Amino acid sequence: MAQHAVFFVAGSAFFLYILYTRLALYLSRRAFKKQNGCQPNPYVFNKDPILGIDNILAGLRSSKTYTVLEDTQNKYKDLGSNTFHSRLATMPVIMTTEPENIKTILSLKFKDYSLGAREKAFKPLLGHGIFNSDGERWANSRHLLRPNFARDQVADLDAFERHFKLMLKHVPKDGSTVDLQELFFRLTIDSATEFLFNHSTNSLRMVGQDEADNEDVIFSKAFGVAQNDTLTRIRLSFMYRFTNQTEARDAVRICVEYVDKWVDDAVRWRQEKDAEKAAGGEKDEERYLFIHELAKQTSDKARIRDELMNVLLAGRDTTASLLSNMFFELAKQPELWKRLREEIAVLDGRLPTYEELRNFKLLKWCLNESLRLHPVVAANSRLAIKDTVLPLGGGSDGKTPLFVPRGTLISYTTYAMHRREDLYGPDAHLYKPDRWANLRPGWEYLPFNGGPRICLGQQYALTEAGFVTARLVQEFAKMESRDDGPWKEGLTLTCCSLNGTKVGLFN
Ligand code: HEM
Repeated sequence: MAQHAVFFVAGSAFFLYILYTRLALYLSRRAFKKQNGCQPNPYVFNKDPILGIDNILAGLRSSKTYTVLEDTQNKYKDLGSNTFHSRLATMPVIMTTEPENIKTILSLKFKDYSLGAREKAFKPLLGHGIFNSDGERWANSRHLLRPNFARDQVADLDAFERHFKLMLKHVPKDGSTVDLQELFFRLTIDSATEFLFNHSTNSLRMVGQDEADNEDVIFSKAFGVAQNDTLTRIRLSFMYRFTNQTEARDAVRICVEYVDKWVDDAVRWRQEKDAEKAAGGEKDEERYLFIHELAKQTSDKARIRDELMNVLLAGRDTTASLLSNMFFELAKQPELWKRLREEIAVLDGRLPTYEELRNFKLLKWCLNESLRLHPVVAANSRLAIKDTVLPLGGGSDGKTPLFVPRGTLISYTTYAMHRREDLYGPDAHLYKPDRWANLRPGWEYLPFNGGPRICLGQQYALTEAGFVTARLVQEFAKMESRDDGPWKEGLTLTCCSLNGTKVGLFN
């Protein structure tokens, strides 16, 4: 009897405690909303309010038809709102395409948010590098890497030209059909690995050869597998544990062993340098090398490897996707090719300089327009780590502040924002580089993100993509599309053309 009484008292105390904390939370949130003028948002996408099953099923259907981005854009249109509620399994989600909201998440209230599930999903491949950490750890990584993206480092046009020449060998000059996308992906991994490891995978040398035993090719394939596995982890969430993970685990091991070789070399180089210095040896002027700069800052090999993997992931497919999306569109508009040739004719056949590349107006507009219409990082998200507020999305007109409870995922859809007709006009769905003659967008144009985590490789990417485009324009008088269909999304972590970039080039 006495035992029952103890259980009863303990149970009641626990119940009262829960009731008290809930009530206290409710009251403090009510005051917080009032203080910030928040109004509820009446737009909800999912019908299942507990598990969001209908949302998961809709997502699976969209990925089968390769229309994830288009269907997401239609959700905003159908609901008639730029901000709405949704649900990812049990997690509440707010979807938004409001530039002011995105500015708030990424910049004004940066500290109210974390990367959320990304950290866990990417950890096997990326460890704790820049792309995959928050707070102090992220700030340290950014501090370590930032100097390596200064202008002199990212403008190594000689390296771009070397890789371009190798690519050119595989482009038929007689108009036979070629898939440029495949070549662009090889070119960017070759140049990125040279930039980062001081050793290029040189995959362009291997086109058409037996690649089975080549360790560089094995690495780049393994990196692709490991990268796709991170996406599977994010998509499947807790269900990932029921999948067969052997291939992914092997791929991560191959990547780690491969990169560790270059890291070992760099740390050994640093030790030799230190020994020379201690012995009073003369210090030669060293050529700048990314991996050596990291070895100068730290001898922690795992740290160097993690950062290299992170930058490779951030930089590998992104530039290739930009090029393949843009060439898909350029091939459909021969007039643009003609005008690009006129613009680049001032070079009179010689290679462009960094400054010249930056000043070619039409070239810049073509790149900007591709990143607007087909943003390579097409959607992104942040998790609220405290109760906070978005400036827009509240009320039926979406014009008042919106309360964001801690634990809410804010998913912002760059793709849909870049196609908003009220921001870009009724022809927002068309590839029209000339619109950039009068466009000076702020947060409504966000291919490289904004705020403290803005892309570190933006100049590197634009220089490489501009250089490759200018060189192809110099080499070929004409380009034709060999794809009758419209552009379709090939969505992984980045977004490229699903059907490749099939063109014919004539010199
Ligand atoms: C067209 C090409 C590229 C696009 C569209 C792009 C886009 C982006 C975006 C949207 C982010 C933010 C991701 C987030 O915070 O969730 C980002 C971050 C980053 N990007 Fe890029 N990127 C490109 C090329 C590159 C290249 C070539 C490199 C390196 C060589 C690079 C290095 C990085 C790094 C290190 C970060 C992490 C920054 C941080 O978290 O502080 N990116 N990029």
